[in-house]
Amino acid sequence: MLILGIESSCDETAAAVVEQGRVIRSNIVASQVETHRPYGGIVPELASREHIKNIVPVVEQALQTAGVTFSQIDGIGVTYGPGLVGSLLVGLSYAKSLAYALEKPYVGINHLEGHVYSVVFENPPIVYPALALIVSGGHTELYWMPAAEEYKRLGHTRDDAAGEAFDKVAKLLGLGYPGGPIIDRLSSQGDPEAIPFTIPRMTDGTLDFSFSGLKTAVRRYVEEKGIQPVTDPEHPSREVLDLIASFQWAVVRTLLDRVAHVVATSKPRTLILAGGVACNRQLRREAKAFAERVGIPLYYPSPPLTTDNAAMIAAAAYPKLQRGERSDFTLTAVAGLKLHNLDLETASSHRKARYRT
Ligand code: KG4
Ligand code: ZN
Repeated sequence: MLILGIESSCDETAAAVVEQGRVIRSNIVASQVETHRPYGGIVPELASREHIKNIVPVVEQALQTAGVTFSQIDGIGVTYGPGLVGSLLVGLSYAKSLAYALEKPYVGINHLEGHVYSVVFENPPIVYPALALIVSGGHTELYWMPAAEEYKRLGHTRDDAAGEAFDKVAKLLGLGYPGGPIIDRLSSQGDPEAIPFTIPRMTDGTLDFSFSGLKTAVRRYVEEKGIQPVTDPEHPSREVLDLIASFQWAVVRTLLDRVAHVVATSKPRTLILAGGVACNRQLRREAKAFAERVGIPLYYPSPPLTTDNAAMIAAAAYPKLQRGERSDFTLTAVAGLKLHNLDLETASSHRKARYRT
């Protein structure tokens, strides 16, 4: 089965052709980083306009690279949320028109589920129950997955997403945009223990995350020490290098603290680390060391599949299209689309039901 994946939820216009849900025939991403760089963040109106410009050539290039024609595609998977509504609408409308004109099935995909499926290309099949940490520019979420396509949200960010915190701290220090990869690269030159930022825990006992306190702690430190935005982003002062290394280390510890908590109380058989922030080298390293210590396999994608792409959307569409699931043409973009489809009770009754059959 050949699936065309389409993704336009944020600032990348992407299309991919994936075979049998696991083999990437093409994976094209048109990044808008240069468009948004002068603003130090994504400007939604500009993002929609760029998607409109890019969607047709990106899809054509995906087909061309895969060496297939429109008529050889068996189905289409397209992101319909969560994300920027104007951006989502471009990919979704285009996918619908294609599906209509070609008389092919199409299915709407949750972007977060796409990130979960980003690990299927380079790892053995996921063994359930799995624990998935999705960390991106817009989300920081921890899911318990008793089985494929079943998601119980154990924790989410109460304020900023982890990637957003990286981007805001980099902006505050004048390091450039997007901040995540820049802080990742420069942090290796700093001392992560220089400033002992505390890692927040929720007083209500939930596994939720919060990054705005850390961001404020960084801002306060900058004010107290009178640190000025850097003039040469390639060569920040020792003070700035230590600050970002300590910040990054606090983010990594916060994320893994919640994972460790779940692993101590439940027994996942696979750990999944996905979303743009999962590119972070220190996070990967520490997550890997943790996974080895507890003896649970950890899956994360290679960097091009970690940040937004359409191969992961096609992979998430595969089981759905294969069993005949289809979206109809009334499907619309949902900016705040949720992934969790299980609560605690239904999760356990679901499991019981599965064991009974
Ligand atoms: O998943 P993604 O490509 O888009 C969203 O769905 O949001 O994630 C983008 C986010 C940005 O905030 C970016 O700064 C962050 O991922 N990011 C990183 C790294 N690479 C990208 N954060 C930390 N370290 C990285 N190496
Ligand atoms: Zn994403």
